[in-house]
Amino acid sequence: VYRYSIDNIPLILNKAVNYKIPMVAIFPYTNQKLKNKFGSEALNENNLVCRAIRYIKKRYKNKIGIMCDVALDPYTSHGHDGLIKKDQILNDETIEVLINQSLLQAEMGCDVIAPSDMMDGRIGKIRKKLDSKNLKDVQILSYAVKYSSSFYEPFRNAVGSKKLLKGDKKTYQMDISNSDEALREVAMDIQEGADIVMVKPGISYLDIIYKIKSEFNFPTFTYQVSGEYSMIKAAADKGFINEEEIVIEQLTAFKRAGADAILSYFAPEVAQKLKSRN
Ligand code: PBG
Repeated sequence: VYRYSIDNIPLILNKAVNYKIPMVAIFPYTNQKLKNKFGSEALNENNLVCRAIRYIKKRYKNKIGIMCDVALDPYTSHGHDGLIKKDQILNDETIEVLINQSLLQAEMGCDVIAPSDMMDGRIGKIRKKLDSKNLKDVQILSYAVKYSSSFYEPFRNAVGSKKLLKGDKKTYQMDISNSDEALREVAMDIQEGADIVMVKPGISYLDIIYKIKSEFNFPTFTYQVSGEYSMIKAAADKGFINEEEIVIEQLTAFKRAGADAILSYFAPEVAQKLKSRN
């Protein structure tokens, strides 16, 4: 796990721009002192994400796109993506905060707003708000199909939410055994105005990518998540597998299943290799 401070952003972004990676995703590590049960740091225009967006837009204008997660888990003292009352996630109250979080990120210059929170009904409301503020060109990438997966653990450790998380996310993230719900979620988000839908995690959900792409013929991204990355890295470190070949095999599988784009922690390495092959 690497975390970059803002002054170190060029270390990674110069590489990304050079390899023609079209977009980077920003995730914040939030100091525990700034977390509370409302996740209010999400709405601070000087929070880490906002400062990072401004920094990148100033120095890399028109060179690379930025996408930002919309969810409260990096900011809440309980580690959940939404607000909680009596051990229950408050869907509609959470959406009110997410609308403002999206608006703030868009105003800072974020190109693609990516709600990963899994509340129901947030895409339409976020779209309406952005449109009303003349931010019509800001796109929405909905994490429409996000399973309640154990593959997110390294990410939760990196953003510092793992040790705070009480319970699990099964009431708002999807049941791993259900595929019909995936299609319903995607249909709703498209209707509400999403520009892109995402399936997450990747390799264990190739059937879902395939079904969605076949059913909707709509821009469909997939996210090779932190656990997938870490498993390959750990096995390669032990000499069990050839990292480069495995990575290409898995990324090819995403494309074969129908993914139009892939979010991957391997992006810089893979892009470098592909560039040197040409
Ligand atoms: C938070 C969020 C998560 C990831 C992206 N956004 C974790 C979670 O839902 O617990 C996971 C990404 C990864 O594992 O790489 N809403």
